[in-house]
Amino acid sequence: MKTHGLLASFALLLAACNPSGDDTAAGAQAPAATDPGTRRESIAAVQVDSSSLSARGSSARDPGPRGALAGAGQALPGLSAMEQAAFDGGRADFIEEETAPDGLGPTMNLDSCGGCHSQPSVGGTSPPVNPQIAFASKLSATNAIPSFIKLNGPVREARFVKSSDGRRDGGVHALFTLAGRTDAGGCLVKQPDFASAVTAGNVVFRIPTPLFGAGLIEQIPDSEILANLTRNASTKKSAGIRGRGNIMLAFQAVSAQPNKNGNDGTLGRFGWKAQNKSLLVFSGEAYNVEMGITNDLFPTERDETDACQYTTSPNSVTHLDAATPLEAISSIEKFANFMRLLGAPVPSADQPGGTVSITNGKALFASVGCALCHVPTLHTGNAPVAALRYKDVNLYSDLLLHDMGSSLGDGVAQGQAGGQEFRTAPLWGLGQRLFFLHDGRTADLKQAVLAHRSDGSEASGVVSKFNNLADREQQDVLNFLRSL
Ligand code: HEC
Ligand code: HEC
Repeated sequence: MKTHGLLASFALLLAACNPSGDDTAAGAQAPAATDPGTRRESIAAVQVDSSSLSARGSSARDPGPRGALAGAGQALPGLSAMEQAAFDGGRADFIEEETAPDGLGPTMNLDSCGGCHSQPSVGGTSPPVNPQIAFASKLSATNAIPSFIKLNGPVREARFVKSSDGRRDGGVHALFTLAGRTDAGGCLVKQPDFASAVTAGNVVFRIPTPLFGAGLIEQIPDSEILANLTRNASTKKSAGIRGRGNIMLAFQAVSAQPNKNGNDGTLGRFGWKAQNKSLLVFSGEAYNVEMGITNDLFPTERDETDACQYTTSPNSVTHLDAATPLEAISSIEKFANFMRLLGAPVPSADQPGGTVSITNGKALFASVGCALCHVPTLHTGNAPVAALRYKDVNLYSDLLLHDMGSSLGDGVAQGQAGGQEFRTAPLWGLGQRLFFLHDGRTADLKQAVLAHRSDGSEASGVVSKFNNLADREQQDVLNFLRSL
């Protein structure tokens, strides 16, 4: 075990190496032994220490978010007029801010999908200013702001690892309630005790994943994903990418397991642990979990306190008496249409660092082994929407679960994903992302890469190879990542 003294000096070392000076970067925060957020970041600092030592003096830096122009947020090219109308209508509903009479709450993390999914444009991820701060007191609400929610930090949702009786929890505990709001007279529901959960080290975080190209991801056949279990088996083995010990199958000296859906046995693919099956299911779940709005898929209020219900439940349903199909469908279907038809992020050929550096970085990304998990391209199948049919999906993910080690592990199991396992994060759109990794622990791309290396992580060997690259080569990899 390393001592706190060592820990602090590595934190300093990392702080010194952190070009952005951002306080969310690993190890850059003042240590407070009781804050699990800080504790995790400090652990990350210790875990990356050996690699930073071998990479000591490396001048490679995260070039920072790319360009002012959002290379994302448009509809897929080639939509029909009706598809475009579905996209536009869905987008409008996606950014609408809901109120208590619409069904918002009693507990929630924000009041619109678009508030959390907004960088660099609608459908993306955490913006530079966290909207949860203003939301805490919107319409005279009386919410306290939990310590892990910061004005310039990532949007976060909180999960408790264990419940008060010591059993496994893992569920999302909404940050805020309607109490005090002018549109919610009489509602007195209290916030969970986040301060105690923080002190007990019992709270873990997730930040929003971006939705650009989500319809293409939805249309990738399971067989296309499963083919990656066996592809490059010997290379993966020698890179140290391995499987979960208890489920080694023939040809499966390689890593990952898919997250199979419990209802029909097909693969989950959305969310940090690939825990969710489809965009419609995610919409229904997010509407209820993030915003407290019950719907056709998730019809039961998470908090049924009578005094806090201001409309019928489920709150949002299909409008059977509507004049047109687009008016008839419920909000969750509108959200799903918007996300399905949302175009993929557009990479840059020459920014940052120029074409030669980016091309070189892409080759190095493959040769050190990043691409064994971050598979550059998968393909869609025979989709009903022409714009989604038989397309390349340049997502840089195998959509499989990998053991990412003790530092990234969050102790939350979902479906077949264990406490240290995560879906290979798709890297498309990375050039314009502000926060990285499932809990948003860093805003520095290089720290995000180094954090892959910790006890038990399948990616440790690959990160060592990254560290052994020359400074200029590391820079090429970082430039390539920011070109995406
Ligand atoms: C309070 C912030 C917040 C709000 C509001 C929110 N989301 Fe999210 N969204 C998240 C987080 C956090 C995740 C990652 C969750 C996880 O994997 O555990 C996520 C993930 C997703 C994903 C998965 C995408 C992928 O590929 O992983 C979809 C789809 C999604 N959200 C849709 C929606 C929709 C639709 C709404 C509105 C009904 C919505 N979200 C509202 C925070 C939010
Ligand atoms: C064993 C599989 C594996 C390998 C090898 C791997 N990654 Fe990852 N990568 C992941 C997983 C899983 C995540 C999500 C981890 C988390 O959020 O806790 C991730 C996340 C990331 C992120 C953050 C993305 C985001 O959305 O926040 C970046 C950047 C990244 N990887 C780059 C790299 C680079 C560069 C390499 C090679 C040096 C690499 N990865 C090698 C599996 C891998």
